[in-house]
Amino acid sequence: MSEILVEGLHRLRGEIGIQGSKNAALPMMAAAVLHKGMTVLNNVPRIQDVFCMMGILKSIGCKCSLDGHTLTIDASEISQTQIPREFLTAMRSSVILMGVLLGRCREAQAGYPGGCTIGKRPIDLHLYALKEMGTQIRETDGELYARTEGLKGSEILFSYPSVGATEQAVLAAVLADGVTLIQGAAREPEIGNLCRLLNHMGAKISGIESDTLRIIGVNELKDTVYDIPGDRIVAGTYLYAVMAAGGEAVLRGICPAELNRVFQTARQMGAKLEWENLPGASFIKVQINDRPDGIWVKTSPYPGFPTDLQSPLMALMAAGNGNGEIRETVFEERFGTAEELRKLGARIEIQKDRARIHGMYPLRGETVQAADLRGGAALVIAGLAAEGVTKIQNSHHIFRGYEDICGDLQALGARVRYKDLIQRPYTKTGECTRNL
Ligand code: UD1
Repeated sequence: MSEILVEGLHRLRGEIGIQGSKNAALPMMAAAVLHKGMTVLNNVPRIQDVFCMMGILKSIGCKCSLDGHTLTIDASEISQTQIPREFLTAMRSSVILMGVLLGRCREAQAGYPGGCTIGKRPIDLHLYALKEMGTQIRETDGELYARTEGLKGSEILFSYPSVGATEQAVLAAVLADGVTLIQGAAREPEIGNLCRLLNHMGAKISGIESDTLRIIGVNELKDTVYDIPGDRIVAGTYLYAVMAAGGEAVLRGICPAELNRVFQTARQMGAKLEWENLPGASFIKVQINDRPDGIWVKTSPYPGFPTDLQSPLMALMAAGNGNGEIRETVFEERFGTAEELRKLGARIEIQKDRARIHGMYPLRGETVQAADLRGGAALVIAGLAAEGVTKIQNSHHIFRGYEDICGDLQALGARVRYKDLIQRPYTKTGECTRNL
């Protein structure tokens, strides 16, 4: 069983670089399939979800090689249009390959997707966009069969700014015939990055970073090299980790503007922040001396507070001083980590979509279970503010999105380690060695 051990109550100090963004890398890898040639992505995080997406790309005929953090995808030949079920259940975002395969091969087959256990995660908006663009979709025994005579540019109006559905529609529109207008699009920075990569490849997308994207279909794309930006959610996790433990740290390699709302929470809780947005040299510096205060926060689509940092923030407040409240509006049932935090002595009351949190510093070390990616990272944060040793079991969930959470926090002076080094999900040069 994968396990992370955290010895709490040690202040952090130091400087680390932030890994490339998971949520930017995954749709970019899908985008590479649109091009009959090579796409090279730099700064790719070596995480389980990336290995999973590589597995899917290989299974449909792409050649992929990951050398350090540089991923080369050769999609000259696509040999099949069915996304294997084992990958779909492991990673929900694989569903965006449907639009890509329809654009490239005019057909796609996929089961209903999986991912973290954080409530209902329907794909109705994905299917709506594909249908609007001229796709016929049939469902038999939980398997989706999609076919098109050729995707057609059309007007798509989303009733909710879904990140995945927006990416799906953008990817489908790139090689479609005519102009696609996507209104009500999600504005997460990862979508801006996907559109910029696609434009590098020869796509014609305008309105980037707004909620209205206009895409003029093109016939073909070209070879491209692109740098994946730093992961704002990993940066936010480490920012809260420093605040939970106390101390000061510099986090390098992220775009501070993407963390505006997160910075606001950190300052309200008592942290001092400085940042610099220099091309290739951006950083944030966080310093905190007292226990963090409780605050009121609501999650919402970007530029609101990210749902992916909801459990890390809950852990921080649980280890703080004072009372706070979090309202979760993006994913229902995303309060699963509260129960594990309570085992560490946290006082959290859940009522529907609201969690009331009473700071109980210091928490006390216990054995807890990670049930999802961000919830697992939240338990590491709580462990940093707990007396004694916190054992986080099922820590493999964390490897879906954090390349080396223990190594990063050790570099800041934290006493945190993998129980067994063999647990690490990848080899230094190769791919995933085990099925997690
Ligand atoms: C992406 C991110 C995830 C993040 C989430 C919200 C990736 C790989 N994952 O997930 O880390 O937590 O955005 O910021 O980028 N919905 C529907 N119908 C749909 C699609 C979504 O009702 O067809 C609902 C979902 O159930 C959820 C909400 O919309 O309640 C947000 O989902 P969405 O923005 O699509 O998230 P993902 O793309 O799955």
